[in-house]
Amino acid sequence: MRLLVTGGAGFIGANFVHSTVREYPDDAVTVIDALTYAGRRESLAAVEDSIRLVEGDICDAELVDNLVAESDAVIHFAAESHVDNALDNPEPFLHTNVIGTFTILEAVRRHGVRLHHISTDEVYGDLALDEPQRFTEATPYNPSSPYSATKAGSDMLVRAWVRSYGVRATISNCSNNYGPYQHIEKFIPRQITNILTGRRAKLYGTGHNVRDWIHVEDHNSAVRRILEKGQIGRTYLISSEGERDNLTVLRTLLRLMDRDPDDFDHVTDRVGHDLRYAIDPSTLYNELGWAPKHTDFEEGLRSTIEWYRNNESWWRPIKDAAEAQYEKRGQ
Ligand code: NAD
Ligand code: DAU
Repeated sequence: MRLLVTGGAGFIGANFVHSTVREYPDDAVTVIDALTYAGRRESLAAVEDSIRLVEGDICDAELVDNLVAESDAVIHFAAESHVDNALDNPEPFLHTNVIGTFTILEAVRRHGVRLHHISTDEVYGDLALDEPQRFTEATPYNPSSPYSATKAGSDMLVRAWVRSYGVRATISNCSNNYGPYQHIEKFIPRQITNILTGRRAKLYGTGHNVRDWIHVEDHNSAVRRILEKGQIGRTYLISSEGERDNLTVLRTLLRLMDRDPDDFDHVTDRVGHDLRYAIDPSTLYNELGWAPKHTDFEEGLRSTIEWYRNNESWWRPIKDAAEAQYEKRGQ
């Protein structure tokens, strides 16, 4: 297949490109990425000879049209992805997540190209800690932040383009990812690199917020399965059923890095902080026969810590600026 991967220099997209080059050597991969603060050429250095990287904005209709015209499928990862940034300045989220997705949709409509749209469980809002019913494909949308509102908007555009124009698209909404190449603004890599640079780990509020963690390789294997076997027009929820509260994750990280599990600071909580996300992935398991491989979360964290230890040159140049940004927010 000739694949166009949007946002392929970001965290999940880069991992997707790596696994595609490794496991599907007959695929031709083109990446379009604006190389924003979150997109790094370095994340694709190991595969640079096997792919084509086009630096460009997914809102550039002419560029997108040309690239889509020469593709069999588009895997649409590109987005502004960080909730705290959206709270500071929502504008880039409207641009990329809404107008960018619209631009991709118009191009795949014109050229009849298959689309898989990557989205998030955050579109469903949050759950009470004791709510027994997890998110399913039928849960109504109820986004809380400017980030999740723009992702919800992009999902709705995809659904409308399927229904109104017969665009051949699928959608997946995944839970929190972790693994190599994740930007150090995000919870797990922020704490790992804080500890590695002699800073203290930082926990928002009480730390009782629950996230449903999945290794990025499992997210991407599910995306590949949906691309190949998913039913057009359907939404699939991806999770490896890894619910844990932030305090537990932080204490585990500290223990794995030989620190006292109480060696962290409580910092200002996130505004409107979603309490709990949890996905029921039975449709994906039962209908598409998918299963995650990284089911031992502690082992996944251990290898992620190792990756950040061994790849300091990837994150060190951006660490001080990321922490300066957090300091401004009291976080
Ligand atoms: P990321 O922020 O690490 O990467 C986003 C990439 O998109 C970057 O390379 C960036 O340069 C690129 N990009 C941004 N604006 C662009 C534009 N206008 N044109 C072209 N490229 C642009 O994000 P991520 O964590 O890899 O997330 C990828 C996708 O997965 C997003 O759609 C996100 O909503 C979704 N998602 C993320 C998670 C998670 O836990 N990280 C979970 C579920 C879903
Ligand atoms: O659920 C999927 C979503 O997961 C994706 O759609 C988003 O793109 C991705 O960023 C992630 O969103 P979260 O807001 O859940 O992830 P983040 O890593 O920012 O925070 C995870 C939890 O940790 C959240 O409850 C806030 C908390 N936190 C975060 C940071 C950065 C801390 O306690 N301390 C921190 O320093």
